Amino acid sequence: MYPNQRNRRLRQSPAIRALVSESQLTVNDLMLPLFICEGTQVKESIDAMPGCFRLSLDLLKEEVKTVWSMGIKAVLIFVKVADNLKDNHGTEAINPAGLMQRAVREIKSTVPEMVVMTDVALDPYSSYGHDGIVEHNKILNDPTIEVLAQMALSHAQAGADFVAPSDMMDGRVLKIRTTLEEAGFLDTGIMSYSAKYASAFYGPFREALDSAPGFGDKQTYQMDSANRLEAINETLRDIEEGADIVMIKPGLAYLDIVREIRDNIDAPIAVYQVSGEYAMLKAAAEKGWLDHDAVMVEQLLAFKRAGANLIATYHAKEAAQLIS
Ligand code: PBG
Repeated sequence: MYPNQRNRRLRQSPAIRALVSESQLTVNDLMLPLFICEGTQVKESIDAMPGCFRLSLDLLKEEVKTVWSMGIKAVLIFVKVADNLKDNHGTEAINPAGLMQRAVREIKSTVPEMVVMTDVALDPYSSYGHDGIVEHNKILNDPTIEVLAQMALSHAQAGADFVAPSDMMDGRVLKIRTTLEEAGFLDTGIMSYSAKYASAFYGPFREALDSAPGFGDKQTYQMDSANRLEAINETLRDIEEGADIVMIKPGLAYLDIVREIRDNIDAPIAVYQVSGEYAMLKAAAEKGWLDHDAVMVEQLLAFKRAGANLIATYHAKEAAQLIS
């Protein structure tokens, strides 16, 4: 109670503030999502994501070297699939010579220490732009997780360190874990998108991969933004099924969920600051309405304060530069 307690005493200098700081943002917290496309010397910009590009494999190799030299230790790989390779069953997703599988091999042969995490979901491969196989306008669960498990296995065979199922089908983590175990990939990790909400913040990402759903929306598999308890349930189930790292997505609008899950589980928690969050800051900064770097660090720190251990963010390089 005042005057015995004067809270401003602990704020009076940078040194004292540093001593009592409760959360730290370090480069070890950051994971960088990367978009990959076919071709050579291709570097395509993405309208709503200034500073992010679709890269061909040759440029990807250079990018990964740079990213590693900045201290970033994990990349999340997403591929843009040609329209003629898309079908309802995601056949191309399990092609051992597919773009994803080649990308993993290229990265691991260029920077073997880099932790490579692959996106496991059918949407970039689906002629319907959905994360599962479609029948009579419904997204089928069990046939989809069969394909996802084969997809995860082919990523492991290519050398992925972690597979990251982002599809929200039920039982996919167990199916993937069992398939990896049976094939002898005992050390391949699973970072599961556990509490992934049906969010309008994914818009720019779907532009980047040309993967927007062709009909309907994703509300029969991704979570309702109104729900909190369901997020805990989803996450606990994923851990039981064999997830090593769990993820909450999007980030900023779901900080309460990050804290809720932190209070309920002991596993490492990742948060995904998604494309729409990135786009909002870039747009406001471009207009001179926000201080880009200050807001970026404030947001990333908020994820740590909420209880996240890892942050997937398109700002990873900018943030790494700023922190170091
Ligand atoms: C694919 C996937 C999506 C994102 C990551 N993996 C899009 C979606 O579910 O529609 C979104 C990432 C972002 O917006 O940055 N299942």
